[in-house]
Amino acid sequence: MDRKRKHLVRIGAGVAAGLGAVALVWTGVAANAEEPAADDFETKIVGGEPAEEGQYPSLVALGHAGAGTPFERQFCGGTVITETVVLTAAHCLEVVDSPDDLVVFSGSVDLDSEDLVETTVADFHLAHDYNEPVDLANDWGLILLDEPVDAEPIDVGTEPEEFDVLETAGWGNLGDDTYPSVAQRLEVPFVGDDDCEAAYGDEFDAQTMLCAGDLENGGIDSCDGDSGGPIMADKDGELILVGIVSWGHGCAEAGNPGVYAEVADFNGAIDDVLEDWS
Ligand code: ARG
Repeated sequence: MDRKRKHLVRIGAGVAAGLGAVALVWTGVAANAEEPAADDFETKIVGGEPAEEGQYPSLVALGHAGAGTPFERQFCGGTVITETVVLTAAHCLEVVDSPDDLVVFSGSVDLDSEDLVETTVADFHLAHDYNEPVDLANDWGLILLDEPVDAEPIDVGTEPEEFDVLETAGWGNLGDDTYPSVAQRLEVPFVGDDDCEAAYGDEFDAQTMLCAGDLENGGIDSCDGDSGGPIMADKDGELILVGIVSWGHGCAEAGNPGVYAEVADFNGAIDDVLEDWS
């Protein structure tokens, strides 16, 4: 199956499920597919570089269960927060009917690697207040795996404000509607709530979202297919999870930063679910 077609099918499923803001993002990508050379849309995550094997030991990919290669089935990212639990975006799980339809890939940054491990899913949970008070607010969900994965749980939930630069990684759109088999990584400036509100108005909920991007120039961003994956901060040499890839208008456009679910805001709610599952 060709790469572009696979992902249009995937994104189409999200639209069918009635995702308002995601549909908006999708419209941008579709327009771009017809005009690959749009000025406001730079090629290459967008603007990143391949992640090294082992660089993000908590990063995993979500895939549809069933036939096809991992590369063909990947549709979102995720982050391992305990041996058996993956944190991702609610909008990634919203399109999944049953745990049987979902798998998690771990063990390599390369979806084509022989070291890649596919793990089945026992249960998943969407934030109760997902889409409240605005669309895509509280965009987080959890996946309970059938067995432990060979990944390192990340420390969760630092406030982003103390960091100038964050880093994100995933298998999403490179910006030209192609998708890498090796996860891309990217360092991206933190964008404060005031600037993000200026960019997005009421669509931005400062309580549950944070922003990152090169506001002035664009060119670097997460993009479709990166959703659910981590945005992290380097705290004294240790990576800490601060957010979850969620949405944006287009990708890597100047003036339109990437928006991420702000994990520090729902740390407590995550713990409650973990307790239920233990
Ligand atoms: N909604 C997208 C997904 O499902 C992620 C979009 C991130 N967009 C951005 N400009 N940072 O994969």
